[in-house]
This record gives sequence, C-alpha cells and structure tokens, in this order.
Amino acid sequence: MSNRLWGTRFSKKTSALTDKFTSSISFDKRLAEYDILGSIAHAKMLGKQKIIPKGDSNLIVKGLRSILSDLKKGKFKFDLKAEDIHSNIQDLLFKKIGKPAFKLHTARSRNDQIALDIKMYLKDEIDNLSELITEMQGAILRLAGRNSKIIIPGYTHLQVAQCVLLAHHLLSYIEGLERDKGRLFDAKKRADVLPLGACAFSGTGLPIDRGFVAVELGFKNVTANSIDSVSDRDFIIEVLADLSILSVRLSRMAEDLILWSTKEFSFIDIDFSFCTGSSIMPHKKNPDILELIRGSVGKIQGDLSSVLILMKGLPSSYNRDLQLDKPPLFDAIDTVKDMLEIFIPLFENIIIEKEAIVAKLNDESLFSVDIVEYLIKKGISYREAHDIIGRMVKDCLDKGKKISDLSAQELKIYSPKLKPDIRKILNAQASVNLKKSYGGTSFNSVSKQIKNWSKRLRDTF
Ligand code: ARG
Repeated sequence: MSNRLWGTRFSKKTSALTDKFTSSISFDKRLAEYDILGSIAHAKMLGKQKIIPKGDSNLIVKGLRSILSDLKKGKFKFDLKAEDIHSNIQDLLFKKIGKPAFKLHTARSRNDQIALDIKMYLKDEIDNLSELITEMQGAILRLAGRNSKIIIPGYTHLQVAQCVLLAHHLLSYIEGLERDKGRLFDAKKRADVLPLGACAFSGTGLPIDRGFVAVELGFKNVTANSIDSVSDRDFIIEVLADLSILSVRLSRMAEDLILWSTKEFSFIDIDFSFCTGSSIMPHKKNPDILELIRGSVGKIQGDLSSVLILMKGLPSSYNRDLQLDKPPLFDAIDTVKDMLEIFIPLFENIIIEKEAIVAKLNDESLFSVDIVEYLIKKGISYREAHDIIGRMVKDCLDKGKKISDLSAQELKIYSPKLKPDIRKILNAQASVNLKKSYGGTSFNSVSKQIKNWSKRLRDTF
C-alpha cells in the first residue's frame, strides 16, 4: 500500500475496514493526469519562490514528468490500496526521486488539490462534450439539407396540427443543442478559477505565487477566498444541471424518432445497424438505442440529485463528504458522451420514407389555420373566422366531405367571403410557404436557417 500522507500522531494502525471505506482511488484514479500536471506547476512555483531549493524543484518536476509519461504509456502503477490518487502519485514520486519528493506537498493540501483536479478535468470534458454536440448538430443539419423539400404533418398534443418542413423540425433540435453548448461554456467560465493555494482552507504563511500557477495551468483567474475555494462544488452542480437539461432534450429527440419509425407514422426508417431484434417475435426491428437514450435521463437526473443532496446543509470549508461528488459527476459525463456518440451515426443513417409521408398530407384539417388566415386577410376578425372554419370543418367531418369538394354555393353558406379560390391553399406546399414570418416554416425561411447553421457550425471547427 502507498505510504500515507498522515499518521504519525496516531497511536494505533487504522483498521483495514477504515482504509477500504475511506479510499477513493477506485474512482479518482481517472484524475491522475490532472493531479500530475497540477503538481508540476506547483513544484515549479515552489522553486521559483525559493520556498524549496531550485534543485529539488527541478528534480520533482522531472520525476513527475516521468510519471506522466508512464501514465500515457499505460505503465502507471495504480495502487488500489492507496487512500487516493494524490497519495498514489506522491508515493511513485518518492520511488523515483527519493526524499526530495517529500517537499512537493509544501503549501498545499489535498483539499485545494482535489478541487483543482476536478476543475481541470471538467474544463477538458466540457470541450469534449461541446465537440460532440457540434458533431451531432452537423449530422442533423446534413439530414435536414438532404431532405430540405420534404413536408411533414406537424403535431401538437400528438394530434395532427399543421404542415411543416421536416428540415424545420430538425433545425429545432440544432437550436436547443446550441443552448446546451452555451450553458456548458457558461459553467466552464465559472470553473476557470484556480483554487490551488487555498491549502487546507485558510491559505498559507509561505510566499506562494498563485498567479504563476494559474498561468502555468491555463486558468483565467485565481479564487479570491480560501474558504470558498475548498467549499465550492457549484461547478459540479452546474455541469450536472446542464447535462440534465441536455439529456432531457436527447430523450425528446429520441422519442420523436421512435414515434416516427412506427408503422403508424412511417416517417423514417432507422438503419438496421442501429436497431435490435426480438428473441420471440421474428418480425421485430426495435429502436432500443433510442429507448436507452430516453431511459438514461433518469440516471443523469439522479446524479444531479445525488450531488445536490450531498451538498445540502454541509458545513463550510472541506468535509470528506465531498469525496462522493465524483462518481455521479463521472457517471453523468460518461453517459452523456455515450448517448451523443451513438446518436450521431444513428442520425447520419436515418432514411426518410418520402412516399409514406406524402400520403399523410391529404388530410385537409392540416390547412384549417390557413383558411382562417385567408378570411382574416379579407377583413374578418380572428374570432369570427375561427368560428366560420370550425363550422365548415365540423360539417365536412360529419358528412364525410372534403373542403376542396365544396362548391361556391356551399362555401357561401359559411361566409360570403369564402370563395372557391381557397382550393389554391389547400395543399402542403402552399400551406408551408404561407408561413413567411421570421423563424416560420416557409421554404425561404428554412433554407436561410440551413445556410446560417452551415456557416455557424463550420466556424466552430
Ligand atoms: N479523496 C478526497 C476527495 O475526493 C481528497 C481530499 C481529502 N482531504 C482530506 N483532508 N482528507 O475529496
């Protein structure tokens, strides 16, 4: 087992159960790289400030670099009996350079060290997540671009509502994903503040240079209050909240696709490579991936709840409870990355069932709002127009008639302003093209959105 960073004041050995129960190495081992990089910057600063001799500082940095290279080559010896990754690394350093290793922990505590490690990890993971989100947006945009002329019946309350361009619907996902990215970047800004130098919680009497460490590690700023530096886990909660919102979006997108792939809708076909079968029903082709994406949201919301409850009522400064912030954080990040990673190729391979979609556009109730607006343009109030068209739709439904089959005389019964020229707008193309309002579903508006997003996403890379 790694040597402990404490213990001389203990008159007895700790029980093996205590060691097992308190150890965090099984999960904080994934912070190894950040821990080493943080230690390199810290050791350089200690040397520069003459807190430790320059020769020792150089030796420590060299030793740590060699541990880092071992880590990258997969040769790092994780000691699963160590208390944590900090002790594991300290121990390996001692084995490499001997006694000067003992000087590394000068003017530092594991309390500020762990806060640093998580912030460094999070900043990198936010960049990785954001890249994946951008790739996802790209996959959706390409699907929209390939099918920019396809009109689908749109739904509210899951009841047939009005025609929209399929691309318009897909672009709505891209908008939401952009907000998700923005939220993560906002969280990154607040996490980009160096906590190292807070030591246990009160700072230090040694002449450290926190600004130097911040520059070395690429932090924008240093924390202004040492107690806050070791107490704070807002940055974890923020990211978990952001991931919860993102995962809710992914679940809703998954649900749309699940519905669209049913026989009842038949809007899309999900490629075989992203479906599964049934052990009893030979005909089945199930959208299990999408269902698992939908189902994973519970896990991520659970991770958020777990950290919120962990933090509730916790006394200020460092408490060991804080060790338990990491498993839910890692779980949420891993899960969301997995969800995005599989959603991207699934989107790339979606087949649009054009003929089945066109067949669904004959339903004239899709155009009722267009006829209301036709009457409004002729000076009838919205309320009256709604009533007139409501009566007409009801009669047609009751008598099994189509609006487009009504004669001039029959139309007049509802309003003298209703003329047979309404037939011109009783089709999906016309209906969509009437929605010229900014952000609406007209061909022109949607093609502008596609152009705009192509440029924005290209600029991101
Ligand atoms: N494993 C601890 C954590 O994750 C590291 C800090 C421990 N600090 C201490 N004073 N025991 O929070």
